[in-house]
Amino acid sequence: MKKDLISIKDLSLKEIEEIFLLTDKLKENKQKYSRSLTGKTLALIFQKPSNRTRVSFAVGMFQLGGLSIYLGPGEINLGVREAIKDVAQTLSRYVQGIVLRTFEHKNVIELARYSGVPVINGLSDLSHPCQALADLYTIKEKFGSFKGRTLTYCGDGNNVTHSLLYGCAKIGLNLNIATPKKFEPDSTVFKEALGMASVSGAQISLSRDPLKACKNADVIYTDVWTSMGQEKEAKARRKIFRDYQINQKLVSSARKDCLIMHCLPAHRGEEITDEVIDSSRSVVFDQAENRLHAQKAVLIKLLGEK
Ligand code: CP
Ligand code: NVA
Repeated sequence: MKKDLISIKDLSLKEIEEIFLLTDKLKENKQKYSRSLTGKTLALIFQKPSNRTRVSFAVGMFQLGGLSIYLGPGEINLGVREAIKDVAQTLSRYVQGIVLRTFEHKNVIELARYSGVPVINGLSDLSHPCQALADLYTIKEKFGSFKGRTLTYCGDGNNVTHSLLYGCAKIGLNLNIATPKKFEPDSTVFKEALGMASVSGAQISLSRDPLKACKNADVIYTDVWTSMGQEKEAKARRKIFRDYQINQKLVSSARKDCLIMHCLPAHRGEEITDEVIDSSRSVVFDQAENRLHAQKAVLIKLLGEK
């Protein structure tokens, strides 16, 4: 049976660990895997802009011996030019995998339901699983293990937060989230993550106080205050989130060796200052690089010979 990657919650801890092991191997020896997906094609359906996701999937397929086809917003016009189930069934006759970047999360679910080939969520309004996999892999790479470590996320409780919630809860990484009122993560996602955390032992907290939340952090993570599709709210959001900026003052209150993470793209001067994102603690480009390696592992797991 085909396996999709729609949410981190669909992956078992064992599967996440296997992806990380394979990511290590792919990073160590690129050549060894250069024929892993020979003859296979990946469709990239993107209804929103992208740098990292698009390029890392395209380069990843190329490095594994396969091909990718980019289908931007004007081409497939998902659900408008053609019903999602027809797109799914047609593409399944041509390609061996589909990445979808879309607005409503239900689009990914519907595409996966009717597709005969694996579907990977390349970001929806609800989640961004590929990002969280690369982020957790980066943390493991930097610290060796997750045990006793704490990640603090400050800002908007958005798609990136949701995937971090599932990821941290599954893997046993403590997570403090600080958001303004009404910008908390989705309550269902939060509850589900608490359930997973009760198994892994991860401590998960939600507060309004970024200073307190950052105090014992090993990693401080933020994302844009205005996500793709919310542009009309940008001005109001800049005001609401003002106190959640990751700046030198906030970072000085945290542990001396704490890392700074951001999924990128960053709105410099809003959620993070130049000084912090450009500092030696910042690992934002390691995260971006690891998107490539971790996604190659996902592609081999989902599209490779069993
Ligand atoms: N982090 C991330 O998904 O970046 P892009 O939007 O550039 O793909
Ligand atoms: N929350 C951001 C993440 C971009 C990678 C957005 O959805 O625009």
